[in-house]
Amino acid sequence: MTAVNDDNPPRAGRPSVYLETFGCQMNVLDSQLVRSQLQSLGYRFTDDWKAADVVLYNTCSVRERAEQKVWSRVGEVGVHKQQRPEVVLGVIGCMAERDGTDMIRKHPQIDLLIGPGELDKAPQLIDNRLKTDLSSRGGARHAEVALQGNTHRRSATLAAAEDSLELLDLSRSFSPDDDMAGGRSAYVRITRGCNKFCTYCVVPHTRGAEVHRPPDHIVDECRKLADQGACEITLLGQTVNHYHYDTAASVTVNGVAQPQVGSVLSPNRGTGGPSPVFKPGVVSFADLLARIHDEVPGIQRLRFVTSFPRDFGNDILQVIKDRPRICRYLHLPVQSGSNRLLKLMNRGYTVEQYRDLLDRVRAYLPDAELATDIICGFPTETEEDHQATAQLLRDGRFKNSFIFKYSPRPGTAAYDRLADDVSEADKKRRNNELLAIQTEVSREVHAAYVGKTVDVFVESISSKARKTALNEADPSVTLGWERPVEVTQLTGRTDGDLIVCFDGPPELVGRMVPIRIQSSGPLILLGDLAEHPATA
Ligand code: 5AD
Ligand code: SF4
Repeated sequence: MTAVNDDNPPRAGRPSVYLETFGCQMNVLDSQLVRSQLQSLGYRFTDDWKAADVVLYNTCSVRERAEQKVWSRVGEVGVHKQQRPEVVLGVIGCMAERDGTDMIRKHPQIDLLIGPGELDKAPQLIDNRLKTDLSSRGGARHAEVALQGNTHRRSATLAAAEDSLELLDLSRSFSPDDDMAGGRSAYVRITRGCNKFCTYCVVPHTRGAEVHRPPDHIVDECRKLADQGACEITLLGQTVNHYHYDTAASVTVNGVAQPQVGSVLSPNRGTGGPSPVFKPGVVSFADLLARIHDEVPGIQRLRFVTSFPRDFGNDILQVIKDRPRICRYLHLPVQSGSNRLLKLMNRGYTVEQYRDLLDRVRAYLPDAELATDIICGFPTETEEDHQATAQLLRDGRFKNSFIFKYSPRPGTAAYDRLADDVSEADKKRRNNELLAIQTEVSREVHAAYVGKTVDVFVESISSKARKTALNEADPSVTLGWERPVEVTQLTGRTDGDLIVCFDGPPELVGRMVPIRIQSSGPLILLGDLAEHPATA
């Protein structure tokens, strides 16, 4: 690294930040919260990392490939810092937590390391780093590090209300810049961390123990977002349906006791399925869904991810059935169709129990769409195990599946105890076979919509087909509007989370429109606006 010289003058004005996010929706939300904190402190954001004073990567450790992308970015910034050593490079999120200070030893260009459980400290640490940089020009610099260290910073489920991470969620300012459906779609965290310890998974190690947020905080946040214009809210948790909150326990935030509304659904809770039965006074996931739906009517679509198959009782299905604005979409990762592998993965359910859940979902919500996750090539997976997974995919009728090749992750039980003994060639072949089955099923699921009219929440202008001014060919085409309009290809989603593309004006982004489906493929539906949106 070159010393700072007069070619690298101290930065003037508001520092600029480049923030790139890898991985899951939880990371997207974390990035939004960090961004909104930094913005309120006067930082500017830029899309050009080379022009930024602070470069932040919010990282994912779930599979090795996600990590490799970050390593290559870190390398690029290292080269860039030879010319601009004053640039601050921060690695935040799961990789920071997993690799710890080893990362700084290997990559001394990293100035900040912040785990997902410590993101509330990000503004302070970035500020420290920028100031140190200015005051110790040319001198040795120490990285700023905030890591949870291990899984146990917060073991009690009630601690969320008292810690400053909760304040990070509470202090969010919803921004149209968040770029989710023109600022009309938002994520709301209900649970942090995970206690399941599936043997292949780093999440319990990087995000720590499960902590449930107080229901009143969640309902208030949803209300605030709806008041600011959000029409769609997606509740986030690693195992959302395991949400539970004991209202009897006393909770304080900044020393003030927080009264919480108890269960609204006592009679039917947890019956008819393997759902945990909570004691009276505990707010379950079904209770929470019902409260948000009933108390925040401004939300047109209420979604939630990700569900854990073992904790999914009929109480939740009944709440969805009774409440039209809760989406008919469930993401239910099964991981394998083999009981032997499910056991080795420590998933805590059998294939029969999972199939029973699918039957219950279809009985309660016949119009629901389902998605799943599969890991192929988990240690010891035989051809027979693989065929069992293939059969489950055929029978499950999922609208799509996320199929991953097993990636051994240091620190997990599978990494320590099980040899990664399925060859890369077998993993690849099994992956392709499962993909081919799913593609056929997806094609059929999508084809069933042709001819129907569905409500679509418009998310964005399609990145591929930016067909500006269809009217170029025929300026008299008005598509039902009084004046010729710029027509672009837009994308959105149905209630069941199917992707729909159609032509329409950009101002429809963030609105719900009826679309008549004309054709379909395994991944998308194509349609036309069914009526004038002003009358929709
Ligand atoms: N290897 C491959 N896939 C994994 N997943 C989690 N950990 C691993 C791993 N070590 C997948 C699971 C999970 C999804 C988010 O990522 O299918 O549901
Ligand atoms: Fe990982 Fe399992 Fe927790 Fe999902 S439920 S985050 S796969 S440990």
